[in-house]
Parts: sequence; C-alpha cells; structure tokens
Amino acid sequence: MTDKFLKQLNEYSSLTEEKMAEYLDNSGIPEDLSEVMKYSVMAGGKRLRPALVLSCSSLLGGKIEDAIPFAYAMEFIHTYSLIHDDLPALDNDDYRRGKLTSHKKFGEDKAILAGDALISFAFEIMLEACKNMNQTKAAMFISQAAGARGMVAGQWVDVKLNGQFVDEKTMEYIHLNKTAALIIGALKAGASCANAGEKDIEKMSAFGREIGYTFQIIDDILDVVGDSAELGKATGSDEANNKTTYVTLFGLENAKKEAERHTEIALEQLSEYGENAWFLRELAKYLLNRKK
Ligand code: IPE
Ligand code: IPE
Ligand code: MG
Ligand code: MG
Ligand code: MG
Repeated sequence: MTDKFLKQLNEYSSLTEEKMAEYLDNSGIPEDLSEVMKYSVMAGGKRLRPALVLSCSSLLGGKIEDAIPFAYAMEFIHTYSLIHDDLPALDNDDYRRGKLTSHKKFGEDKAILAGDALISFAFEIMLEACKNMNQTKAAMFISQAAGARGMVAGQWVDVKLNGQFVDEKTMEYIHLNKTAALIIGALKAGASCANAGEKDIEKMSAFGREIGYTFQIIDDILDVVGDSAELGKATGSDEANNKTTYVTLFGLENAKKEAERHTEIALEQLSEYGENAWFLRELAKYLLNRKK
C-alpha cells in the first residue's frame, strides 16, 4: 500500500472517530450506557465503511462536511452489527477489535442494549442531516442496506443455516447481504451526498458489490489462516459454528482466486473515473491483501 493511501485512510478514520467520540460524550446519554457504547465503538476497527462514504462523495465532487454524518452513522450501525453478531445466540465470540466482546465484558443484557442504542443513534444522526441538508436519499440507502432487505437478511440466512450444507448460490446471497449490503449502502450514500446521478450511483453500487464479496471471502479465509492477535478476534469461529464458508466450499486456494476475480471486476467499474478514483482503486487492493 502506498503511503498516500494509508495517510488518506487514516485521515478519514480520524475525522470519523473525532465525531463519534464527540457524540458519545456530549449527547446526554447516561454515563454508564455511554461507556458500554464507547467500549466497542472506540476500540479501533478499520473504519472501512466511513472511508467509503467519504471517498465516494469526494470522488463525485461532494463536500466532506455533507458526508460526515453518514460516515459515522454507518460506523455506529456497523458496530452494533458486530456487537450483536458476537452474542452467544449468534456467533458466540469472546474477542472483537482486540478486546473482550461487549457481552463478555458487560453482560448480554447491556451488550444488546448498547447495540440498540447505537442503531437508534445512527438514524437520529441521519435524520438530522436530512433536515439540515436535504440528504434523504443517502439516509434511505443506508436504512435499506442495514435492515431486512440487507445486512439483517444476510445474518438471518447465515444463522438459520448453521451446521447445514450451503450451496454456492445461497453462499453468495449470504455474502451479498450480510456484508456487501452495508458496503454498497456506504458508497451509494456517499454518491448521494455529492448529488450524483443514477449512472454514478449504479457504478458505485456495482463496485461495492464486488469489493463486498471480496471482503467476506477474505474474512472467511482469515478465520482459518489469520493471526488472531493481528485480527483482534479469534480464528476458528466459523468452524466452531459449523458454518459453510467460501473456504469450506471451495478450499483456501480457490477462495482466494474467487476474491481476486471479484477484485478485478470491481476495478473495471472504476475505469471511467481515471486518476480521481485512485483511493477506491487502492482500497480494493488493500481489501484483497489485508491480514486484519
Ligand atoms: C467485520 O467487519 C464483520 C464483517 C462484515 C466480516 P470489519 O472487518 O470491517 O471489522 P472492523 O470494523 O475492522 O472491526
Ligand atoms: C458478520 O460476518 C457480518 C456482520 C453483519 C456483522 P462474520 O460473523 O463472519 O463476521 P466476524 O468474522 O464475526 O467479524
Ligand atoms: Mg456471523
Ligand atoms: Mg461473527
Ligand atoms: Mg467471519
């Protein structure tokens, strides 16, 4: 990865973290609830989805301040999805972002409520942005991506089929929804913040779909061969839950090839944007080669 890319990613991440900390500290949330929310939100994380909102908006000529509320609303939604994904009733994981999972640290009751609080907060932030800047479309895209036609639908099928054989088509459905949906939603929201037209939104959506597949295939691979310290979460979670993944279905090597294939298609979507799309291009490669 080039220094230029890492610097930009870091900048997007800092901007987002600043806003998230400000919100969680100064919004009149009961102190102990705020502590549980902050425990997961401020634990680090790649901040991929905010970077997608901000870079996509900037690529299409938007102003950063218009996109910021959607960037950190996305990260609140993503973090809630992780807290709930780790619960004993779902994946039953003990570590996340290098720390004990929320329910391990505070108990299931508090973890569930912290997740609820984060998602509600995200919608409040987006509605505020709609009121001030007429960004209803961006909020719509994120709402659709997060719910029963997006991430939740993917998680639903994922947990429903634990321990059962999953064919390739169903696997694609799961990946597209549980993971790619929020990534696509982030890009479409970023494009909307820049008042982009249908054609650009479609292109960004196609790009998001492909890096979304890549993202989850690599997640499945890292669950088998990754380093848990570097990942900040335990490996072997999928096997413990008897999940069919790209790795169990295709094998490690072919899974990686499949991730490469999706990355190539992703890059093709950016061809007409020339040098301006450098960040998204580097991001797609970073997601293919990531170790955490
Ligand atoms: C993990 O997401 C959940 C999946 C969709 C696979 P990330 O790998 O983006 O997690 P953080 O935000 O960096 O912790
Ligand atoms: C979860 O996929 C995707 C979410 C919607 C949170 P995984 O269950 O594979 O994510 P990790 O491996 O726990 O991060
Ligand atoms: Mg899961
Ligand atoms: Mg999980
Ligand atoms: Mg996983």
